[in-house]
Amino acid sequence: MSAPSVVTDPILQVSQLGVRLGGRMVLQDISFSLQAGSVSALIGENGAGKTTLLRSILGMQAWQSGKIEVLGQPAQDQLALLGYVPQKIGFDPYLPLRTRDLVALGTLRRHWWQGLRQDAAVQEALAAVQADSFAEQRVGQLSGGQQQRAVIAHALARRPRLLLLDEPLANLDFASTSRLVQLLGALAREKGISVLVTAHDMNPLLPILDHLVYLVGGRAAAGSVEEVVRNEVLSKLYGYPVEVLRHRGRLLVLPEDPRYSREDVHCSQGCGHD
Ligand SMILES: Nc1ncnc2c1ncn2[C@@H]1O[C@H](COP(=O)(O)OP(=O)(O)OP(=O)(O)O)[C@@H](O)[C@H]1O
Ligand SMILES: [Mg+2]
Repeated sequence: MSAPSVVTDPILQVSQLGVRLGGRMVLQDISFSLQAGSVSALIGENGAGKTTLLRSILGMQAWQSGKIEVLGQPAQDQLALLGYVPQKIGFDPYLPLRTRDLVALGTLRRHWWQGLRQDAAVQEALAAVQADSFAEQRVGQLSGGQQQRAVIAHALARRPRLLLLDEPLANLDFASTSRLVQLLGALAREKGISVLVTAHDMNPLLPILDHLVYLVGGRAAAGSVEEVVRNEVLSKLYGYPVEVLRHRGRLLVLPEDPRYSREDVHCSQGCGHD
């Protein structure tokens, strides 16, 4: 007789979410769910609504309709389970804050006697992103890739079940990108932390992705990469024909945006006449 299957609530369930900002619906009817321990990407162009969606999950942005649940409970009651790495963080090179201090600031310490546990959480977070070697250095004097790892360690220090990262791959070179992608995969596979990461380009993330949420103009298509990145699904989402090309394991989405003719695109990139 086979063992009974254990059905667990999704780590994140977003149902028919609608967010209005500046008098306009920035997100409309967004629905998807993510399984615990998975890696998911939230893909979209500038202004698609990626940061707004993360901020809604984190309780930083009010929404007009729908609901957001973390492990079956309203997200606003589960904030201690969420870790967040915001978009665009800058540190002054002379800021007197070491990597270790930044990570300690991320711990959830409510009582003095939790100090020992706090030290252990800081050490664990530093080790998870392999930041021990620069733990005593000032964060403002680290490289871009090291700073990104330091900020991820800050988010990990509270031992989250779901880690939300807003464009962590922006401004990283090829080597740092692939190192960070491997790190995110390891957090999910080895530590069981669910990861939701936003990006413009899904390609660097493809080796670790379980799930994709593709945002266009505030609407979403969600599923596995194979389910979502298809001509018919993306054409429906964009509202005009879209062609998906596959080349050496990379995916290229070519929307035939009626606002720009091929001639315009060609000329804007330099076509030899004024
Ligand atoms: N406080 C605000 N008031 C009005 N409109 C806003 C506000 N914040 C964001 N928006 C608008 O909401 C839309 C979505 O913004 P959001 O920052 O979520 O996009 P994004 O996908 O994260 O973009 P990017 O890739 O540039 O970070 C944009 O059109 C933006 O101008
Ligand atoms: Mg953003």
